[in-house]
Amino acid sequence: MAVSIRREGDLAIVTIDNPPVNALSRAVRQGLFDAVTILDNDVSVSGVLLVCAGRTFIAGADVNEFSKPPLEPHLRDVVAAIESAKTPWVAVIHGTALGGGFEIAMGCRFRVALKDAKIGFPEVTLGLIPGAGGTVRTPRLAGVVNAVTLVTTGRAIGATQALAMGLIDAVVAGDLLLSAAAFAHTVLAEEWPLPARTRPVLAPTDDDWVAIEQAVRKAARGEDAPLRALASIRFACTTDFDSALAFERDMFLALRGSPQAAALRAVFFAERTAPRPPELAGIEPRSVKSVAVIGGGLLGAEIVAALRDGGFPVILIEHDQAALDRSFADVKAIVDEAAQGGSLTADSADERIAGISTNLDYDTLTNTDFVIEAVAEDLDVKRSIISRLTDVCRPDTILATTSTSLDPRMIAENLAHKDRFIGLHFFRPAQLTKLLEVVPVPETSPHVLAAAFALARSLNKIPVQAGIGEGFIGNRLLTIMYRQAERVVLAGVSPTDVDNAMREFGFAMGPFEAQDRIGPDAAALRRRAAHENDTNESGGVPQQALNQNDIVRALLFPVVNEGSKILAEDVAKRATDIDLVAIHACGFPRRCGGPMHFATAHGLKAVVNELDRIHAMGLAAPPCGMLRRAASEGDWPAAGS
Ligand code: COA
Repeated sequence: MAVSIRREGDLAIVTIDNPPVNALSRAVRQGLFDAVTILDNDVSVSGVLLVCAGRTFIAGADVNEFSKPPLEPHLRDVVAAIESAKTPWVAVIHGTALGGGFEIAMGCRFRVALKDAKIGFPEVTLGLIPGAGGTVRTPRLAGVVNAVTLVTTGRAIGATQALAMGLIDAVVAGDLLLSAAAFAHTVLAEEWPLPARTRPVLAPTDDDWVAIEQAVRKAARGEDAPLRALASIRFACTTDFDSALAFERDMFLALRGSPQAAALRAVFFAERTAPRPPELAGIEPRSVKSVAVIGGGLLGAEIVAALRDGGFPVILIEHDQAALDRSFADVKAIVDEAAQGGSLTADSADERIAGISTNLDYDTLTNTDFVIEAVAEDLDVKRSIISRLTDVCRPDTILATTSTSLDPRMIAENLAHKDRFIGLHFFRPAQLTKLLEVVPVPETSPHVLAAAFALARSLNKIPVQAGIGEGFIGNRLLTIMYRQAERVVLAGVSPTDVDNAMREFGFAMGPFEAQDRIGPDAAALRRRAAHENDTNESGGVPQQALNQNDIVRALLFPVVNEGSKILAEDVAKRATDIDLVAIHACGFPRRCGGPMHFATAHGLKAVVNELDRIHAMGLAAPPCGMLRRAASEGDWPAAGS
């Protein structure tokens, strides 16, 4: 039973049990709707505690139902039924009360939460707005400014902040149910507060609205949902409750079928599939409790910081004391910056640093489970390090290289037990970037591959398996995009116009600005690689006038073509993995779902036709076989096909 009722004295306990995250599936909505009727007809019940089994309170609407026709009872009707129940309901929150989950809670007369609970409206991250009163009740409980921040950013807040805003009535500790029951007995004996729907809302002035809208538009960076959420909150300040609900509903429905919502939904599911891909199902990861990093250059220091964020004790090894001191100082600077920025408390920062031991001696690695070499890109140096590690480490210690430009098979050439060798491609800054490319060699054991995925999960990163090949996935996509940017410039467009067009499309930076940021060396290397790869350069690029749309297509469709080659070569397992790399490592706008989703949404046949046209203009290579095949079949091939 998704929803059950039991009694504790004069209180009824309504429990939602819908693993994994108590999403509001139809069965849950129906169960809650029925519970209101049942309990309103039981005069011996003086209050209802709404609790959830498992790891969390309701995590929101069931995302799996978004692409299907809505089924009754609708969430807004369930919230309304709870809100107008004769017997007062108390939402008892642990874990996360998100989206529809908190809309249900706002329908309850009271809300209590454990201190570490989180509350938020993540709908905008899925291209939506709350659809069951979130934009109408939140300003009534927390004021307009707080409502705008919560609903238009999608960022969750902790229980203490929610209490200060008036979103919840109490933060409780200890046994949640006992505390909630005690709270209920106290407040039920007092005068009850008004239901959220009947509370007044104080509207900002017109000038304030102008400032609020400017800020939301800037932060939205081309996403529709935050602006629609704002419009809905604004309307809710100027009209009656029911008209506001109807307006919100219309906005919700308009967004639900939108391309942005479809793209963001696809990213949501891709991000949840990638860390546990089907090909690793049932494979036990080799156990990893301790990690060492060899080479404390900037990348090494960032990896140490990331490993400490993941809670691993880390040994940092360098070749001399000066390098070791410099590297330790770099890690400390990263941790200090996080503490100054407010993402770490002073205690946690101290604890991060205390978990690092520095050493010059490889003998300290005799019992380390996972060693990551992050030294300069020199084959001989890397081979000699692997050979020293072979001498001192256990034969089952996992050895990883972070090389981006050397073939990992060559680095591991002389290694005994190659089954424990793997490549890890961190994108910089490694402590912040969400994506990790995991690159097995042919001999890598599935348990070692699974361990690398598990390590990435512990670091709160999204792992994607990449095959061996120049640039793996991410750098290969970037190289093509930068090459195309140069071609468009050779055709007569200014670099500023190229940067502006790509920013307008949704990139945080244009390709030339981005290359300026990574520095002349890396940019020059990429350019050289791009030119060496470019077989169409010889005839020169014909001069032509290109508008913003032409520029975007001349940069993006070749990226789709490259993604198709990456799939054909099995360098990526699935199109969604390429999308995740593009979003998290190459700056591709999330609202377009990544290049492969973007191409599917645009129509793969149309992409092929346009790429043929761009090729005829002398601006790009023609569509590859895989792209033509996908266009004729209407989709990208499934993993393994
Ligand atoms: N509907 C359906 N399934 C959901 C879901 C939702 N709203 N939210 C999470 N899930 C599923 C995930 O797909 C995953 O399924 P899987 O185990 O089959 O892969 C599982 O629940 C666990 O999710 P995950 O994100 O891996 O767990 P977590 O503990 O790291 O985080 C949450 C839990 C609830 C914080 C996180 O899942 C989340 O933010 N969910 C989205 C909530 C949301 O957007 N709600 C509003 C919808 S409008």
